[in-house]
Amino acid sequence: MITINENYLKLQDSYLFSTIAQKVEKFTKENPNKKVMKLGVGDVTLPIAPIVGEAIKKATDDMLQKETFRGYGPEQGYDFLRQKIAQYDYETLGVTIEKDEIFVSDGSKCDTGNIGEIFGTDNVIAITDPVYPVYLDTNIMAGRTGEYNQKTAQFEKVVYLPTTLENNFIPELPSRKVDMIYLCFPNNPTGTVLSKPELEKWVTYAKKNKAIILFDGAYEAFITEEGIPHSIYEIEGAKEVAIEFRSFSKTAGFTGVRCAYTVVPKELKAYTQEGKEVCLHQLWNRRQCTKFNGVPYITQRAAEAIYSNEGQKQIKENIAYYRENAKLITQGLQKAGYTIFGGKNAPYIWLKVPKGYTSWEFFDYLLEKANVVGTPGSGFGPSGEGYFRLTAFGSKANTLEAILRIQNLK
Ligand code: MLT
Repeated sequence: MITINENYLKLQDSYLFSTIAQKVEKFTKENPNKKVMKLGVGDVTLPIAPIVGEAIKKATDDMLQKETFRGYGPEQGYDFLRQKIAQYDYETLGVTIEKDEIFVSDGSKCDTGNIGEIFGTDNVIAITDPVYPVYLDTNIMAGRTGEYNQKTAQFEKVVYLPTTLENNFIPELPSRKVDMIYLCFPNNPTGTVLSKPELEKWVTYAKKNKAIILFDGAYEAFITEEGIPHSIYEIEGAKEVAIEFRSFSKTAGFTGVRCAYTVVPKELKAYTQEGKEVCLHQLWNRRQCTKFNGVPYITQRAAEAIYSNEGQKQIKENIAYYRENAKLITQGLQKAGYTIFGGKNAPYIWLKVPKGYTSWEFFDYLLEKANVVGTPGSGFGPSGEGYFRLTAFGSKANTLEAILRIQNLK
């Protein structure tokens, strides 16, 4: 008899963004004349930068010529891209990352999900609450979370770190010892950031407790304020305790192109049950070589193009466009009486739902009355209840229309 991985039965029936998509599809079918404004999933709407398009065409030409055609590439990514990442994303921050510490991939969702494979299933994980659902779901799949407690809406073995208005969106260090700490800053979903001293506390904790920080920096390009770390490696000693995930999705509009990377420093260690040190770089390299055949050559050339002067200029224009949307949403909703967080250093606006509504009730209300789609805070974890997320990645016209409709509800 074939059996299943029963951990999958502990998952919610549907992934958050799929549930939302289903609800919206149903609504659209039932109301074909209503134009729905989608500010739910954080997907970009501007086309890729022209220079990226040119690089894709040029790389396609390479693939059409016998002399320049590429078959399997290196599983870890081509040197031409890894070199640029090391130079432009890290050297500019005063951080030294060797190019072979960078693993190019097809997305941070996959990487943050797959990384768990190199860690023991008995590790205790800590996640901020609310949280990007992938971190929790992939640990449920791996059997690292224990049973679900209906009463608390939490998994027994998971340490939840509330990140709410009560603590100014700054998670506190866990009171119980943890081994794997997921941090995403600028934060998805709250759009809030951690200062350098706050991030330092986590690095110190990880060192003291022989823990690993899994740092998701997918939104670093949206930081506008000085002094906010763009990379965890800006913190002294972080290379000994942190893996960093970065993505071209939000930085360069690659959600459909698919390219990201993960930094696994060589000094990063974890331990066998007997306490023997093992180099995580080697383990991740082994995993990637076995299960991944690398990102397409054409895609990597596309990513490389953003590091030219013109490429930087073009992607910054797109980022500025989304930042402007974030500002418009913030101002527009504040004017309508909403309490708003995030938005300043991130493409997400996190708002308090009006009194009397749960997050999902507010979702239904906005969809039905304003035909606007957002993401209910409780979908990101129990502490997200009472909050709601809007993304700044829509078109400016749709964003303005959505704001107007929400304002008119009041
Ligand atoms: C989100 O809306 O939270 C993101 O788009 C999800 C993702 O990047 O996978």
